[in-house]
Amino acid sequence: MKVLIIGSGGREHTMAWKLKTDEPSLKLFIAPGNAGTASLGENVPIAVSKIEELTRWAEKHRPDMTFVGPEVPLCAGVVDAFEKLGLAIFGPNAKAAQLEGSKVFTKGILQKYNLPTAKGQSFTDANAAHLYSQSLGYPQVIKADGLAAGKGVLIAQTPREAAMAIHQVMVEKAFGSAGAKVLLEEFLVGREASIHVVTDGDTYRYFPVSQDHKRIGDGDTGANTGGMGAYAPAPLVDEAMLETISKTILDPLFIAFKQEGIDFRGILYAGLMLTAQGPKVLEFNVRFGDPETQVLLPLLETPLLEVARAVTEKRLAKLDLKFRKVSAVSVVMAAANYPGEPRLGDAIKGLDLVPDEMGRLVVFQAGTKKQGREIVTSGGRVLTVTAWDESLERARELAYHGVSKIQFAGAQFRYDIAAKLTAV
Ligand code: AMP
Ligand code: GLY
Repeated sequence: MKVLIIGSGGREHTMAWKLKTDEPSLKLFIAPGNAGTASLGENVPIAVSKIEELTRWAEKHRPDMTFVGPEVPLCAGVVDAFEKLGLAIFGPNAKAAQLEGSKVFTKGILQKYNLPTAKGQSFTDANAAHLYSQSLGYPQVIKADGLAAGKGVLIAQTPREAAMAIHQVMVEKAFGSAGAKVLLEEFLVGREASIHVVTDGDTYRYFPVSQDHKRIGDGDTGANTGGMGAYAPAPLVDEAMLETISKTILDPLFIAFKQEGIDFRGILYAGLMLTAQGPKVLEFNVRFGDPETQVLLPLLETPLLEVARAVTEKRLAKLDLKFRKVSAVSVVMAAANYPGEPRLGDAIKGLDLVPDEMGRLVVFQAGTKKQGREIVTSGGRVLTVTAWDESLERARELAYHGVSKIQFAGAQFRYDIAAKLTAV
């Protein structure tokens, strides 16, 4: 059995670990991978955006299944290209991936089908955007349409800030072509929750609720990042709220998919705001979150390959999707200066000192590479230390015990991952 994973982050190392834990004899390829994935399979030096090269590699090696980690290859049509060759691949096709690739596309669907979301409107003309902005109230939200590595959302507190944000996105093109269209929205107040579901287009099933920590500093302070740590299950969303989310958002969304001819298969990760008027959609991602994957996959009892097969063969309704009754905590260690331009090339010490704790403490690598006999930093988020246990508190202690063993110059991490548990 041959499996290809596309990506190089902690998410992809976690997928590789889960697949090998489920089936040690599996032959694994990771494009392009990192120093961690190299210990579980063979890294293939092709960047995630090189769809033609990935397709040529797959045509030659014919993997039995491919997993796609990041959004860029999904939006660029890697699933369509592989399926054309008759290769099974887990993820949405380019049409469905627009749900993450274009905020204007998504808003159009949400509005057309009356799904709960912030009031808003899309523009290609800056003057028209300025006019609408003045009618919207403050704070208001200005979003670049396309992929902007999580940076294309600006919150304006005043008319002046709103005008500057529109100018920045549409005229100065701060996010490049992602800003050719802009979406203006009212500001929603509430608590944010993100929900992962796996779907074959006909059925969807929930993963446990997870919570990310987006800011660089303790107590949710400082700059926004790709995510500094996560835990699951999170008490943020209870069963009753999940039922509301199914009834008011996901069930109607899947009806809309049918109407629009969108065949969504893979992971749908919904960013929601739990407002006083009920949950509302902020955004959709069309893939697993990172670092959410690092806590979700250790909880998944069902083999990941079985889940992927059930999805590509459209029989998810019959799959026995099981989760372990444990809690997982994952702490990200990031390079010096992250989320700015990270300093690279620092030697990472102590990876071999992290105890295994009967398989419940694992380091998932991200921005790492081998340099001679050393493993050095090669990206902003360097690694995630993940632990799980029946007790969340013990899982947290274990994860931080792992963190204490690892050293590299300028390492940054938060001390408060999973420390403040906010129940509904
Ligand atoms: P998005 O990529 O659209 O989820 O936006 C990124 C972040 O911006 C979200 O996680 C929210 O914290 C914030 N945000 C986006 N849209 C809104 C909104 N309409 N009201 C309040 N905050 C928002
Ligand atoms: N952790 C946020 C994301 O993967 O988008």
